[in-house]
Amino acid sequence: MIVQILKRSSLAALSLAAFISCGHSSVIEDFENGIGSWNKEGEAFKVSSGDNNVTGYSGSSFLTVDEDESLSGSITSGPFTIKGKFINMLLAGPKGSGFGRGAAASLIVDGNAVRTSSPIGDDPKKFEWVSWDVEEFGGKEASIKVEVPPARSFAGRTLPRGSIMVDRIEQGPKRLSSFYDEYSLTLKADGKYLLIPASDKGTNSRLSVEVDGENILGNAQSVRAATSEIGYYIPVNIGKYSGKPVTVKLTGIKTSDAVYGNIKTSDETPNSPTEQYRPLVHFSPSFGWTNDPNGMVYVDGKWHLSLQYNPYGTTHGNMHWGLSVSDDLIHWTDKNPVIAPDELGSIFSGSAVVDHDNTAGFGKDAVVAIYTSAGAGQRQSIAYSTDGGYTFTKYSGNPVLSDPDQRDFRDPKVNRIGDQWVMALACGQVIRFYGSKDLKEWTFLSDFGTGLGSHDGVWECPDLLKFNYQGKDKWVLFVSINPGSPHGGSITQYFIGDFDGKRFKADNLPYPLWVDSGADNYAGVTYADAPGGRTVFMGWMSNWAYTGSTPTTFFRNCMTLPRDLSLKSDGRHLILASVPSPEVDAARSGGRDVDGVSSSKSMDISEILPSNKGAYEIDFTIVPEGKGNISFSLSNGKGETAIWELDPAGGKISFDRSRSGITDFSPSFAAKPVTTALPTRKEYKCRLFVDRLSTELFVNDGDFVFTNCVFPTEVYNTFGVKSADSQFSVKDIKIYELK
Ligand code: FRU
Repeated sequence: MIVQILKRSSLAALSLAAFISCGHSSVIEDFENGIGSWNKEGEAFKVSSGDNNVTGYSGSSFLTVDEDESLSGSITSGPFTIKGKFINMLLAGPKGSGFGRGAAASLIVDGNAVRTSSPIGDDPKKFEWVSWDVEEFGGKEASIKVEVPPARSFAGRTLPRGSIMVDRIEQGPKRLSSFYDEYSLTLKADGKYLLIPASDKGTNSRLSVEVDGENILGNAQSVRAATSEIGYYIPVNIGKYSGKPVTVKLTGIKTSDAVYGNIKTSDETPNSPTEQYRPLVHFSPSFGWTNDPNGMVYVDGKWHLSLQYNPYGTTHGNMHWGLSVSDDLIHWTDKNPVIAPDELGSIFSGSAVVDHDNTAGFGKDAVVAIYTSAGAGQRQSIAYSTDGGYTFTKYSGNPVLSDPDQRDFRDPKVNRIGDQWVMALACGQVIRFYGSKDLKEWTFLSDFGTGLGSHDGVWECPDLLKFNYQGKDKWVLFVSINPGSPHGGSITQYFIGDFDGKRFKADNLPYPLWVDSGADNYAGVTYADAPGGRTVFMGWMSNWAYTGSTPTTFFRNCMTLPRDLSLKSDGRHLILASVPSPEVDAARSGGRDVDGVSSSKSMDISEILPSNKGAYEIDFTIVPEGKGNISFSLSNGKGETAIWELDPAGGKISFDRSRSGITDFSPSFAAKPVTTALPTRKEYKCRLFVDRLSTELFVNDGDFVFTNCVFPTEVYNTFGVKSADSQFSVKDIKIYELK
């Protein structure tokens, strides 16, 4: 009640009686008589006797800061004895300027600042209550110090000095603020999960979860605590602490925020298997954000997929390595994250190997992860697992590779080549190779890439692949770039050439060549130790241009289908061929032949599947009979349609998703069709995979692959082919459900 009165009050509108009637509060200072006995240092502070632009203060004057940015200083109250449960004070000024360095008010006990606050309101000219819980200091002598430090300069720029206004400081039995610098709540662990209400539109807050005095999250994690609406619940697994008290701490929240009062425990996670866009045959994390696939390694008959992972939100942040494991590359089981951020920084992309010969000394067959520690600079670190890749210990000698001169220095991909480990590392706009005997000491081998391929963005996520082509070794180097895709945002290019153990030399080919010509396949790399000498690839099925706002709820992003890679000639030169891995065939259910058409200008399959859950494969071969464009499309009952347009004569294909469903989450998603080269052929043998939010089109046994996401508001259940001006035939049509 009092808080509301104050919010509405302006100059002199507040009656002191309202305060006193609410409890036994006593006023420490109200600045009605200047600065009284406060001790002033520097010239920054003064008492303002009213200001018509400022609201919410008490009486007719308040403490403020001179506008002259060159002034700084502090002002400290005389000593008083703490006797209330709370100290409440009115603060105004620019929000957040006080964290660490800016303008702030502090409570000093025994010479130490035991509480510090800076202004909290969205309107810098409106006073808001700030409250400190001071019960633990009851009976002690204290003082209050308000400071405004000198303006700082950073990277040649002078940053604003910060500012603070203070009024009516009192102590009493009641907390008057609706804002918590740090909100703390203790619950009993009586469910498997602790659920924290959050939303992409929520307020930035730091979350800690303490059990027996330890933060079980490691560091405090950045979350977007729910304010006006709950978008999702962040699940924190507290199963192993059953019955114990669990203390949740969140910084910077208000009592009016939706997170306040709605934190709960439950045996269920918010993971909704029925979520509209949840893929059925692609990896997606059961909760949270993912980008690049990391540490892909085949161990003891299982496919391990680590991932760039935020366990505490659906946007990029708190980067961990998550872990999911699969028997068949299609169905995945999430495990606990394996590598968490530490004092060296967030855990960025990298790879994993099985150290069969114990070269690193962590044990025979230890799984060793090599990743980028992204903190103050980017450096390479390692961690090892002796339980087959389920739990990792960070190496005590981390980081194992640094170069302070390099800003973008990341994404180590390590392969066993001959008798050494070879790391390919993205370094600005080159790929740098390093060699090592033991995964701990790395020696520079060579740089690759200056003047070759696309340099329209930063180089990231390399992978060096060895193929046997017509009896000889032939090498491929992947380089992801962001931005710089012809479609906007991110894309992965490759080079074909030779590697002599030290240096990669590219063949003279018409670069850039793309691993996938669509808009949504990035940062993909291949499995270590894949059985049968296979080269198995998965990419991140999204694009940095719009990935942060795609319309999913409990998870954001997924991986592509697994693909087996090889080299083949397209008649002109060698190309990288991508086909769906055999495991994808095993996910087929049923299988229905559909009659094709010959010498026609249109064809429709009005019902793709009788009970269509959104995951299916349509195989078909289009034979053009003229020079005109031929389009094929998927559509639903709401008139939403995704259209591929084949231009056989022009050697092109494009994908128009402007009417495919939800597109307005980002202007760059559907602004123009995704258009790319597709070599002219007599016929186009297509395999089109659809899985709720994704389309992956494979043409002519690996010649071409085209991955593009869509967000239809109901599943597409009609398939059509048509041409305005040319006849065509469609043959060998087969439809499979995928599960
Ligand atoms: C590629 C990338 C990597 C980096 C990671 C961070 O998508 O930018 O270069 O390691 O994502 O999440």
